[in-house]
Amino acid sequence: MSLRSAPGGVESDTKTTESVLRTEDLAVHFGGIKAVDGISIALEPGRIAGILGPNGSGKSTLLGAVTRLTKVTRGTMFFEGTEYSKVRPEKVARLGIGRTFQTVRLLDDLTVFENVQLGFDLISGSRMRRRTAADRDAERGAVETALRRAGLTDRGKLRPGQLSYGLQRRVEIARAVVMSPKLLILDEPTAGMNKFEREEISKLLLDLRGEGLTQLVVEHDVQMMVETCDHLFAMNSGKLIAEGTPQDVVRDSAVREAYLGRRDDDARDS
Ligand SMILES: Nc1ncnc2c1ncn2[C@@H]1O[C@H](COP(=O)(O)OP(=O)(O)OP(=O)(O)O)[C@@H](O)[C@H]1O
Ligand SMILES: [Mg+2]
Repeated sequence: MSLRSAPGGVESDTKTTESVLRTEDLAVHFGGIKAVDGISIALEPGRIAGILGPNGSGKSTLLGAVTRLTKVTRGTMFFEGTEYSKVRPEKVARLGIGRTFQTVRLLDDLTVFENVQLGFDLISGSRMRRRTAADRDAERGAVETALRRAGLTDRGKLRPGQLSYGLQRRVEIARAVVMSPKLLILDEPTAGMNKFEREEISKLLLDLRGEGLTQLVVEHDVQMMVETCDHLFAMNSGKLIAEGTPQDVVRDSAVREAYLGRRDDDARDS
């Protein structure tokens, strides 16, 4: 097997720790479009890994594949060493994978608190059974903690529509962290934000890392990625074209070429 981190962790200068997430030759084809075309990556625990790549290079499709929302054409994926390639999408949260989406997906008829609560219900299955007072206390505590971790203390009673766009995106992060995931996957968490808001999100991700949360982030803002990530992957046309330290990856000639003239700063609007 040509694994990046060999079973038993016998590689010389890499960690012996088990990868949180690992994919092997993952591919997602839509008819003739090879959106993801043979991707093998491994995420080390407690680190922030980022994926860079021009529009349409397959970043969101890769995130869809590892969260099981998108059907995989080929390949294998492991979470904490256990294969989960065929796990049902609704079971992925319970494995310990939380995610946010490229576009805001909040319910505006519900309060911020209730939106985050939905994330908790998803993993605890508490909608399915009668809840005791202790269940409700635990749930309220978890939601309040998630709101605090996402910097949304005191905003619980508001509706998402009453919040700035930057804060709405934080609600999504709160909804993902309320499940106490071991891995948080974020697709363009700062899309559409101004520089100040982007720095705030970067700080939030670093704070979450400080609490030990492993993260996989897709983002177009190269500077933010260099400042936030411990490890970078670069994709182009569904393939991995570089990986390594952020400094090395942004200096890589293939990465520069992939971005050259195709860098779409308007992608932040998507
Ligand atoms: N459901 C789908 N059906 C058909 N083609 C798809 C589907 N989803 C994505 N694609 C195609 O797969 C390719 C990769 O798309 P993807 O959304 O993964 O790119 P991306 O790197 O996330 O781009 P962006 O930076 O613009 O978000 C594109 O050519 C896209 O049109
Ligand atoms: Mg995308």
